[in-house]
Amino acid sequence: MRKIFIAGNWKMNKGLQETKEFLATVIPELNKLKLDKVIPLIAPAYPFLEEALKGSFGSCMQVSAQDVSVHSEGAYTGEVSASMLASLGLKYCIVGHSECRQYHNETDSTVNTKILKLLENHITPLVCIGETLQQREENKTKEVVLGQLSGCLQNIKLVSGKELILAYEPVWAIGTGKTATPFQAQEVHNLIRNWLKSNYSEKVAAELSLLYGGSIKPGNMKELLDCEDIDGGLIGGASLKEEDFLEMVKIGKKSKGQEC
Ligand code: PGA
Repeated sequence: MRKIFIAGNWKMNKGLQETKEFLATVIPELNKLKLDKVIPLIAPAYPFLEEALKGSFGSCMQVSAQDVSVHSEGAYTGEVSASMLASLGLKYCIVGHSECRQYHNETDSTVNTKILKLLENHITPLVCIGETLQQREENKTKEVVLGQLSGCLQNIKLVSGKELILAYEPVWAIGTGKTATPFQAQEVHNLIRNWLKSNYSEKVAAELSLLYGGSIKPGNMKELLDCEDIDGGLIGGASLKEEDFLEMVKIGKKSKGQEC
């Protein structure tokens, strides 16, 4: 059974006090929900990861970093290694976000190295892929998404399908208010799932959680989660508000025709 992730990517938002306040409001409510199949997750900025881990200790809330270095250690000013994240007890890390690809020249090859470093340190990578508006308009979505998949996952061994999470985030839908329609999202998710079947196994394709991201909010979460191959969301703006985050977790709990 695939897990449903309601994953908040906080980007460069929320300082120490706001992180504490978010957790103080959200954790008691999450504890009341008795979640099993749904995994709530937040990705604060590096300096607040430890506080987020402390504040969510003993609850079902998971904490993720937003990025990691390709290097293991040494003279790389400003960078944070996978082993440093692991030393905090962190279990998840986002890689390949379109903002990192755009602003830090991240490529599929660097994403691939980051995935390897994370896996070596027992951290689950949450790998983002997705096409730009121009690529979609040129009918290149399939080619781009499958190219990113094979580039990012080159020589990455997947056996259970639980080693890694994928997020399909069409770049044109991120922070723009333009969500992909459930049909558009499901079409690409199905393409990715079939690629996993052919390139790994039925088991990996069946077990790997495949999230959608791009302008998700409580109002469109249900229709996205109603799609067979969408196993949750990577949510930016709407994950910053406590009530919206909780609402999306509750929608996740009721999704897939069952309370989970
Ligand atoms: P958004 O961001 O929900 O604000 O569009 C999603 C993301 O970048 O992960």
